[in-house]
Amino acid sequence: MSKLGTPLSPTATRVMLLGSGELGKEVIIALQRLGVETIAVDRYANAPGQQVAHHAHTITMSDPAQLKALIAAEKPDLLVPEIEAIATEALEEIEAAGVARVIPTARATRLTMNREGIRCLAAETLGLPTSPYAFCESLEALQKAIDGGIGYPCVVKPVMSSSGKGQSKIDGPQDVEAAWNYAMSGGRVSHGRIIVEGFVDFDYEITLLTVRALGEDGNIKTHFCEPIGHLQEAGDYIESWQPQPMHSRALEKSKHIAKAVTDNLGGQGVFGVELFIKGEDVWFSEVSPRPHDTGLVTMISQWQSEFELHARAILGLPVDTRLRTPGASAVIYGGVEGEGIVFEGVDAAMRVPQTDLRLFGKPESYVRRRMGVALGYDDNIEGARQRARQAAACVKGRKA
Ligand SMILES: Nc1ncnc2c1ncn2[C@@H]1O[C@H](COP(=O)(O)OP(=O)(O)OP(=O)(O)O)[C@@H](O)[C@H]1O
Ligand SMILES: [Mg+2]
Repeated sequence: MSKLGTPLSPTATRVMLLGSGELGKEVIIALQRLGVETIAVDRYANAPGQQVAHHAHTITMSDPAQLKALIAAEKPDLLVPEIEAIATEALEEIEAAGVARVIPTARATRLTMNREGIRCLAAETLGLPTSPYAFCESLEALQKAIDGGIGYPCVVKPVMSSSGKGQSKIDGPQDVEAAWNYAMSGGRVSHGRIIVEGFVDFDYEITLLTVRALGEDGNIKTHFCEPIGHLQEAGDYIESWQPQPMHSRALEKSKHIAKAVTDNLGGQGVFGVELFIKGEDVWFSEVSPRPHDTGLVTMISQWQSEFELHARAILGLPVDTRLRTPGASAVIYGGVEGEGIVFEGVDAAMRVPQTDLRLFGKPESYVRRRMGVALGYDDNIEGARQRARQAAACVKGRKA
């Protein structure tokens, strides 16, 4: 897209976000700064991105009829999925009919919404290293897969789930039934299909943000951000930092894997490629065809955050993935249940030198809902992590 129009006029470049949480909100802000007209869609009203977009709609995005009707009414040029739970078959129809461009591609959104699609692509089609895995639809089949080669410890996940929902580790035979039952309660729309993966005893895990953007010659070029290290707890990231120090051979392998996966998925935009690292060995875990939550750190550590990179790449504009400073992010949880909560300690957080803060504006808090993030920078990662953690710890949610 070499031309950009004027928002709220007939020339407007119109971009619809499908999912408007904290990540979508930052993409919308980046688009707004380029004079793009934005349409924020979510399943609930007053979602973070809806608060900063030109237009907001609340629909069930997994319902193809609702999704198609809204797209027909709003006529966006680009459709930008922010979440996985979308009627991807409707996106494929829309893309095929040339109604709107799907970011990065409709096929990428379909393959990555289901762990089976992306795992089979990575391991079987592309031959990339992954944990050993099997798909099962019953407790008996799960036990058989474990006994037949996956072994202990292993990890069970519903094929359609995110943020660790329904996911648990099995250390021995005594855990199998509980893991199966837990997976059955945590899936999105999977109705009983799970993946069981051999547990990878990694030294650390990274997100390699990979950007497919148009070059001056009109061809797609792949750019890599510095690797992001992160810490996960109960399937949710709690801290991330950039750059994660890596053995050069492991970084080389990581880039090779990320390139292979993103080349296959195609299109333009940011991808978050999740990898496990042990020494010089690298395993592909999964990929988000969109900015990644652990990449929130790039708001402080890069010249262009992953959200600005996404906005630029999807519009066909040049990108710059260079690091600005070592940085870190620490998640701020709600800590309480309730609507319209109040945040205390924001002033104290901001007094921590070399930090910044985002509060997402979510209308409802849960104890373990991500409500904000603290960012820190320093000339080394440990210092940055310390600052981000210290700032995050100052902020406390309180019931209204
Ligand atoms: N096979 C495995 N071996 C070791 N650890 C694993 C394995 N699978 C998952 N994990 C751990 O659990 C975390 C979450 O797993 P995964 O990314 O597959 O789930 P998710 O629900 O898609 O999470 P998210 O949506 O937050 O990315 C990983 O980042 C990793 O720390
Ligand atoms: Mg993940």
